Amino acid sequence: MGDKRSRIIKALKDAQKTPVSGEELGLKLGISRTMVWKYIKSLQADGYEIESSPKRGYVLKSVPQLLYPDEIQMGLKTTLLGKKIHYFEEVSSTNSVAKEIAASEEEGALVIAEIQKGGRGRMGREWVSPHGGIWMSVILKPGIPLRHASRLTLVAGLAVANVIRDMGLDARIKWPNDVRINGKKVCGILTEAKAEVDRVDYVVLGIGINVNMDLKDIPESFRAGSTTLKVELGKHIRRVSFLQDFLFELEQQYISFKTQPFSHILNDWLALSDTIGREVKVTTPSRIIEGRAVGVTPDGALIIRKADNTKEEIIAGRCIY
Ligand code: BTN
Repeated sequence: MGDKRSRIIKALKDAQKTPVSGEELGLKLGISRTMVWKYIKSLQADGYEIESSPKRGYVLKSVPQLLYPDEIQMGLKTTLLGKKIHYFEEVSSTNSVAKEIAASEEEGALVIAEIQKGGRGRMGREWVSPHGGIWMSVILKPGIPLRHASRLTLVAGLAVANVIRDMGLDARIKWPNDVRINGKKVCGILTEAKAEVDRVDYVVLGIGINVNMDLKDIPESFRAGSTTLKVELGKHIRRVSFLQDFLFELEQQYISFKTQPFSHILNDWLALSDTIGREVKVTTPSRIIEGRAVGVTPDGALIIRKADNTKEEIIAGRCIY
């Protein structure tokens, strides 16, 4: 089904609003005119505005503003990421779904949703996920030791920051995983992994990006520290193109992660870090550490120089400054 649908959409897009007859589409796809009509009906039900006239044929007037796999995959420049996409209008959490299917899925499969009702943030926090954002999970099978899985959080943060910077915004990364613009959070990343005897079976990279929401769409308790791409750019963003660009950038960074020394990623990450050099307070489940953030270790732990001049490495925590 997916392939034929995509081919009909592509043929209608290529025709650039000149009518394409059912017969022509049928010949192209090797199906009957009745089958073409059935596909057109299903596309219309999904929000594709397709005008049909019995004499002239079909004209594609507009495509839906949703993250449909057909739309994402058409023109996607990746070779690994997004070849398979599980799409949901509403889901509890894309990370939870991705973890359920990861064992039997190919590397690079995505789970994506228009809204999440039980979006999860780091350290058990809630992640608000209304319409207009990009809420997605990427299944990766890098075959690395578990202790290196957190490196992928840095890889994803770097890819998000890069793609936002390409739009002309000064995106920076707050340790460990927030991408911020002008000090406000626009993206969060939740990395979850399953491992056997220290080698990961899979990693689920959960990425949430505030794209087209207005600030009023974000609950008041989160609003002060948050922003969206639409607010920062002052215009609506085409989520499909943004996502295609992001997947391409993430794939480039992932290839670099697998083939180059990790110092390459780390240096690029450090160059965009919003945290290094600042006086910070990091809260972990057991204590609070204060001092100056002076670097990160190759596994992504934050290095803090404390008032007594000793250094401490923090693997995970909530960082405030
Ligand atoms: C954080 O900053 O605390 C991490 C937020 C991660 C949110 C994303 S949205 C897609 C994926 N599904 C989830 O439930 N969480 C992640």
